[in-house]
This record gives sequence, structure tokens and C-alpha cells, in this order.
Amino acid sequence: MEPSGIDVFDPAHYEKVRRPILEAETLPFWCYTSEPFYRREIDRVFLRSWNTVGRAETIPNPGDYRAVELVGIPLLLARGKDGMIRAFANTCRHRGSQVVSGTGNRETFMCPYHGWTYDLAGNLVGARGMANTEGFDRDDYGLVPVRLETWNGFMFVTFATDTMGLLDWVGDLDGHLTSYDMEEMRCVKYLEFEIAANWKVWLEGASEDFHVPTVHRTTLDKLKVKHWTEETQGQYCRLVEEHEGTRAVLPGDEAFPFIPTLTGAAARGTQYTVLYTNLSIATTRDCAFFMEIYPLGVDRTRLRGGFLFTKETLARADFDEICTNSYYNRLDTGVREDIHVAESQQIGLSSRLYRPGRISDQEPNVHYIWNWILDHVLGTESPIREVVG
Ligand code: FES
Ligand SMILES: [Fe+2]
Repeated sequence: MEPSGIDVFDPAHYEKVRRPILEAETLPFWCYTSEPFYRREIDRVFLRSWNTVGRAETIPNPGDYRAVELVGIPLLLARGKDGMIRAFANTCRHRGSQVVSGTGNRETFMCPYHGWTYDLAGNLVGARGMANTEGFDRDDYGLVPVRLETWNGFMFVTFATDTMGLLDWVGDLDGHLTSYDMEEMRCVKYLEFEIAANWKVWLEGASEDFHVPTVHRTTLDKLKVKHWTEETQGQYCRLVEEHEGTRAVLPGDEAFPFIPTLTGAAARGTQYTVLYTNLSIATTRDCAFFMEIYPLGVDRTRLRGGFLFTKETLARADFDEICTNSYYNRLDTGVREDIHVAESQQIGLSSRLYRPGRISDQEPNVHYIWNWILDHVLGTESPIREVVG
């Protein structure tokens, strides 16, 4: 829904959101419903930030590839013969067809339209019918490369040449999560959901446990926790819980042993991290679970998530049984409860009778997220000249 006669990029509309949390109002409804606002988020948030495109272990071997889409941009992720993962625009340099779909293993990629062929490094190695085209040099028409870096086994891309490196982006988050060694952990099954809600609705919900006693009152809320948020030095926000047992199964269900290497807060409970822009990770005492968040439009979002387990846990004879009965059941239950309330919230936000609200001191990360997004959306930098390609 578009607001009529309003410049949604006028900073004056956000003055109350920008106030300290206990004086602040919620974001205006159009931040969740307006196409121009969403397009500005793509230009100034997603194109300029680091975004996850999934786990590196999904393409473990030379020649492995996967086609993905991020905010409407088709991408190809491919592991080269040198073992390096590279990202490219999945757009043929001839007349623009998508070169590949799905996932698999190949030495070259042949565009299905007229057969131009690219190698794993994106070089154009075959260009049918171009012999008489004047001044045509195959070297000039490789797939457009996209910046890709990995962190803790997750692949990330950004489209801007001037965005800080991924390690600087992550900042001091590394220190909180080191004892998990997530690069060595593995996800053996993904759960996917498509929801009728703006991507921020999901991100905000992943950043707070204020909703747990209500949304999850008959499920997750049975675990009693002490919780707090902490200032961060990086492009992320975090919530820390101390509790008995694990957050990864419903209270009372059978769980795997704790990870023996964990130290500090990791050993005492659960850390919920929202790493901007599109990755949430809950690291708990026996595993981690994560969600990749892919906006499909202003009011539609695709979620793709799963658990990360240690190799010792994965090797257990009872892994499949306990995993299905306890872990997938918990993830599915919790996510479906969250989806229900997220889709309900989107409908409420889209009502012409919606009016801004106020927030509690139990949801500071929601306020951080709003302000982080506003910093980018209302910022003065133009995204156009720096974006790759
Ligand atoms: S569009 Fe790819 S070969 Fe023509
Ligand atoms: Fe939830």
C-alpha cells in the first residue's frame, strides 16, 4: 500500500523512530508496504551490504555449482578447479538469458538459449556464431563477477566495490562464536518456507524473545531463561540467554550432548544473532540453527534454514531418529508459530487504520534494526556508481 502525497524518504517522517528506544515510535507502515521504499532498500541496503547466499558446504567439490536469486538478481555460485568459490551474475553476456538453474556439478556452463559457454571461473570459452562479428573478443564477455567471501562456513556476496571486507563487517561477532567452529559444522537438511510478510517483519522477530511467552507459550516458553542484549561492534545485533538444557528442542524432548568446546556465554545458553542483512543464527549448547532470509517482494519473503551439528553428533547411530523427533519438530513448530504471527502482522501493517506504536525495553534489537535500515535508506550515498557491473 502506497501512502498518498507523502515523500517516504523525507527524514522528518522518521524523527520519532530515531529517538532513544523508550521515547521512540515504530516505523511508519509504508516501510513494510511501499514499493518505492522496498526498491530503495534493495539499492541502498542489499546491494551495498554483505548478504548470505547459503552454506559453502552445499557446493563442496570442484565443479559444484548452485543458482540462487537475491532480491531479484540471479546469481551463479561455482567452486572452481582450484577449490575457490566464486559468484557471478547468472546472466548470459550474449542476450541475457539465465545461464544455469538448480544445482549440480559441471566443468562448463552452456547457456540454453544459443549455446555460449563459460568455464568455472566465468570465462567465455565458447561463443557460437560469432566468427564474423567485428571486434568481438571472447575475453571481454565473461560472466560478470560478484564479490564473495565466506565466514564460518556461510557464503556472502555484496554488489558494491567499496563495502568493507566481510571480517570488518562481522566485527566482534567472531569472538562470541569462535568456540563453535561453525565452519566445520554441517547442515544435512534444509527447511524452506515462503511467507506473506515483509523481510523486516521476520528479521525483527528473530532479534527478540519478547514474543516467546505469547507466540510460543505452549512450546518454547516452557524453558525458563535469563536474557539480555549487548552492544555490538559490527554489523549485527545480538540477544543472549542463559538457561538449562538447549533451545534447539522443545522442553522435555530428547537432545544430543552439549558441544564440549564451548566457552563463555556459548556454554551457558543461547546467543541469537541477526547478522545484517539477511542471516539469523541461534547458537545454543548442542548445535546452531540458522535462517537465510530472501526478500521476494515488499510483502513476500523466502526463508531457508536448518541446523548445524558437529561431526561427532552427525556420526551418532541415533542421529536421524533424535533429529527428526526433537530438532526438526522444534524448528518446524517454532517457525510455523512465527510465520503465523508474521503474516498476521503484515495484514495489520497494511491496514489503512494502522497507526505507529511504541516499544518496550525488552526489544532493543528491533530498534537497532530500524535505525540501521534508516541509516542506509535515508543515507545520502548513491549506490549506482559503486555497484559491480
Ligand atoms: S542468450 Fe545466452 S547464448 Fe544467447
Ligand atoms: Fe519466535
